[in-house]
Amino acid sequence: MMFAPNIVLAGFMGTGKSIIGKQLAHKLSLPFLDMDELIEEREGRSINQIFATDGEPYFRQLEVALCQELAKRSGSVIATGGGTLIPEANFKVMAETGLVICLDCEPDALWQRIGDSENRPMLAEQDETRLNRLMNLLKQRQPAYQRIPYHIDVTHHSPVELVEQIIKNLPSR
Ligand code: S3P
Repeated sequence: MMFAPNIVLAGFMGTGKSIIGKQLAHKLSLPFLDMDELIEEREGRSINQIFATDGEPYFRQLEVALCQELAKRSGSVIATGGGTLIPEANFKVMAETGLVICLDCEPDALWQRIGDSENRPMLAEQDETRLNRLMNLLKQRQPAYQRIPYHIDVTHHSPVELVEQIIKNLPSR
């Protein structure tokens, strides 16, 4: 049987990784795995609760282990969390067996999408306002997202259009 790479969606919070991933998997008749959902299911609590009780480093460890586990699969569509592929080791392990695609979005549109979402502990206000936090995090993460070989701008497109665009550009499988 031919080796079928995973399709791994990365990118900042609010770029639509989960919804696009789900629709893409459906169209291609592939299994869909959402890392945030898997972590919540296995931990039996929400991401917010994980951050509040055990802190971000604990959550990041769960992500590392899950990347290693999911990279062993093939032929799945995987939606990562916005911070999952920031550590280079996570990116490398996923890229070994997956086609990694980064979803990009203009900051204004991101703010519209996630400015008031409650389930995003990374945007919780500490010393800076939520908007500053978002802008700083975006800037900090830019170099890591730039390592990703394929990019697609989601700002002005619907998930349906984006799924089509991704499928059209998939290397022949
Ligand atoms: C995070 C993004 C979230 C989730 C967690 C941390 C991040 O996923 O994994 O809250 O560090 O950017 P989404 O990108 O699906 O919101």
